[in-house]
Amino acid sequence: MSLLLNRSAFGNVANKGTTLSREEAEALFKEWVLNPKLQLHMRQVAHLMKCWAVEKEGLNGEDQWQWEMAGLLHDADWDQWPDLHCKKIIEELEKRNVDPDVMHAIASHGPAHFGVEPETNMDKMLFAFDELSGLIHAYSLMRPNGYEGMDVKGVKKRLKEKSFAANVSREEINDACSRANINLDELIGFIIPRQSVVQ
Ligand SMILES: [Fe+2]
Repeated sequence: MSLLLNRSAFGNVANKGTTLSREEAEALFKEWVLNPKLQLHMRQVAHLMKCWAVEKEGLNGEDQWQWEMAGLLHDADWDQWPDLHCKKIIEELEKRNVDPDVMHAIASHGPAHFGVEPETNMDKMLFAFDELSGLIHAYSLMRPNGYEGMDVKGVKKRLKEKSFAANVSREEINDACSRANINLDELIGFIIPRQSVVQ
């Protein structure tokens, strides 16, 4: 089954700056995403995107929300329509006249799967947070005190163990870091304390 999107342009540039309201995004999230584990993953990625937008990009309210919304909805169709993963949520957001940048970020969060290259910082960070966030959360679940006392070294050890969270592609993590021009240690160090507040 191919998830390739076979296109590189999304939405309409005339909709630049248009987002869903938080209420609309939450309603879509609740209607489409029924699996609690996936809900948590998407909320964690949304929070990381928001933190990065604020702390590293210095973005204001509306632009911050675009980043957060891309994180919140990036896997919205994975749960109920895995064969249409990415395609369905993008089409839904296009129907709702959302800013093309948000759809592009969602479309490029797995270049190997969807065939769309991350271009903007928002694209690159969504790709970078996605897999690593999942692996770090899996690690927290096997530690007696969860995120408490977790450090970069511990996460890197888990990354080296191929059998740990084996579905998380180490290659994609390295690829994402190099595309975003971020050091892996720095990215892990950013994620741990911020992700720990979304559980
Ligand atoms: Fe994801």
